[in-house]
Formats: sequence, C-alpha cells, structure tokens
Amino acid sequence: MTRFPIDEFQGLRTPFYFYDLKLLDQTLSDIKRTARDPRFKVHYAIKANANPGVLRNIQAAGLGVDCVSGGEIEAALEAGFRGERIVFAGVGKSDEEIRFALEANIGCFNVESEPELLIINEIAGEMGKKAAVALRVNPNIDAHTHEYITTGLAENKFGINLELLPAMIDKAISLDNIDFKGLHFHIGSQITETEPFVMLCETINRLQNEYNAKGITFSSINVGGGLGIDYAHPERRPIPDFENYFKTFHNHLKLRDGQEVHFELGRSVVAQCGSLITKVLYVKEGTTKKFAIVDAGMTDLIRPALYNAHHKIENISNPNGELHHYDVVGPICESSDCFGKDELLPTISRGDLLALRSAGAYGEIMASQYNCRKLPHSVFSAQ
Ligand code: LLP
Repeated sequence: MTRFPIDEFQGLRTPFYFYDLKLLDQTLSDIKRTARDPRFKVHYAIKANANPGVLRNIQAAGLGVDCVSGGEIEAALEAGFRGERIVFAGVGKSDEEIRFALEANIGCFNVESEPELLIINEIAGEMGKKAAVALRVNPNIDAHTHEYITTGLAENKFGINLELLPAMIDKAISLDNIDFKGLHFHIGSQITETEPFVMLCETINRLQNEYNAKGITFSSINVGGGLGIDYAHPERRPIPDFENYFKTFHNHLKLRDGQEVHFELGRSVVAQCGSLITKVLYVKEGTTKKFAIVDAGMTDLIRPALYNAHHKIENISNPNGELHHYDVVGPICESSDCFGKDELLPTISRGDLLALRSAGAYGEIMASQYNCRKLPHSVFSAQ
C-alpha cells in the first residue's frame, strides 16, 4: 500500500509525480517470480515511463527494454540497459534512428512494413552489419479496449496484414543483411480480460503450424504488452495478476524447441507505483456545484482529457473529513481539463494536496508545456 509522506511534501513545488519505489520493486519481483519459465523474456515498454529513477530499478531487476524511438534507445542505454536487451518497434523509424540502433547493436527490430525492411537491409549493408528482425503481424483480434489503444484489428496503421505476411517472410529471409528471427504481435493496451490473450495464443499456434509445414521456423515469438491494471481500486490489487497472465501464455502457446517468447509490458509494470500530487488553489462554489481548482492540469496528466480515463482522486491532506461532491479541474484553458466530475471527497480547502492515483504509466512521459507551463518534477519514496 502506498503511503504518502505528507509532511515531507510540504514546501515542495507542485505538481509533481510521486513514485513508490517499494511497490515498484515488489512488482518487479512478482514479474520475475511469475515469468520464471526460462524461455520467457520480458522487455519493459519504456514508452510508459522513462524517468531515470524508475528505469534504474527496472534495469537492476534484469528486464530488457522495448523502445519506439531513438530517444527511447538513448534513455535505455543511459539507464544501463545493454544493446542486446533492447528491441526497437514503431511504424516510422527514421534512417538516423535505424543507424543509431545498429550502432548500439540492439537485439531486434520489430518491422512493420516492406519499405522499412528494405531500408534496414540497406543501412545494415552500408554498416557491414546484419540486423535481427521480427515482423509485426496484425492478428485481427479485438482486445475490447479504448479505440485509441486497440491496435490488433485488421485495418490499422500498425503491423502487416495476415494476407501479406507470406511474401514479407520470403523477402526477409532472402535479404543479405537481415537475420529473420520471428513474429511480433501487440493487440492493444489496458486489457483486463484473459480471453484476448488466449485468442492471440491460438492465432500464433495456427500461424506456426501453417509456416512450419512450409519449412519456415521462428526462433522468437513476441506477444507484445497490454496487461491492464485496476484504475478504480489502486489499493485492492496494487500488483497486477502476472501469475494468471504468464500462465495463460504458458498453457496456451505451443512453443517449438529452443523458441523464446518476448513480452513487452509497460503499464502493468509502472502504473500503480506513481501518483500525481497536486495542490488545491481555490474551492469555487457554483450554484449547484463545488469546483476544486488544482494546480495540475491536462499538461501534467493527459489521460482523462485524451481517453476519458479516470484516475482515483484522494485528499491526502484531510483523508477523514466530511464527504462532499466536487468537480476536480485544472487551470488549463480547455473544458476537457477536468480530472473528475461529482467526486465524493473529504472536505477540500485551499492548500490541500490531492493524489491522482495509478499515474505511473503514460503520465509524466506524456506531459507537455502547453500554456507555457513547467513540466512536472518527480519525487521518490525511500526504497
Ligand atoms: N508493445 C507495443 C508494440 C505497444 O504499442 C505498446 C503500447 C506496448 C508494447 C506496451 O503496452 P502496455 O503493456 O503498456 O499496455 N498512452 C496510452 C497507452 C498507449 C499504448 C501504446 N502502445 C494510455 O495512456 O492509456
């Protein structure tokens, strides 16, 4: 359970992200315990959070890292991840990023189109290198999640459609500077049911049978990320159910000898250890509503404005006060700059600190400077 050192928070500039490193470490230990199958390799999806203080712990726990830009590869290398533990995905890798990744001797490129495959082959050839490549397949699976974070359906900018896959595999095998490793999948994010993952395993089994019959084998299968977390009850299950998640792949995926399975978990690793701490500037009494106007806005945590997401709000200055309804809103000049409507919260006064929970993933990293605001800073619990 995350404890907020409220006395230590007094006098700190707000808003800031507070990271509970003890919870992060417990989460990482649980991943190591439940992913103990030696064929399983977990790469942390750094897009969820690249704060160096967070990355250091993830690197120390022995995870690899999944990157989608040259900047993310740089952040990973700075945090101490070795090149071979880095995979590089994304539909639009620039020539400079490809060159940088090859220089860093990354473990694998997840390739999403034929022109990208050809350019990687060309640049690797110029550099006298061979690029390890997995092809990202679009498996046409509905992950039952928000439309902006569903990625596995057929008509999508991501991945290669199943009909086009045979030609792409032939191409990858034929190119001199490409070392074809296998297939990559990612069906979406914040997936809270087991069924989409079972469907993914079944699709992979079918594809493996089909291709093995043609004499094509894969040394690695990458199943992407997507395991969801409980935003409504951050304390009920602060560590996601990794046991069930990895067991699903263990039970349903039919692996061949010597095959590795790669996972790219982002949200489930870091979401629950982070909270956005914000100070109440004003309590404005309307005719029917009370507004708590806070100093954090959509620039600090964009998920509510962008995805209609809800992060649990707590009044950590007055946790036991009498309950009232408030709309909790930020200072940005946009009506979507609202963290919660009709929130039942203990009496809020000017100067109180509120915690927006489960904000460790896609929080700080998605912050912007709109309205010329300062980026939020970060504070860490004692470990
Ligand atoms: N692998 C690939 C290829 C991905 O595209 C993603 C996330 C992941 C792994 C990690 O997925 P996770 O385990 O975190 O679900 N900003 C949105 C989420 C965007 C996810 C994009 N891709 C949000 O705040 O909900």
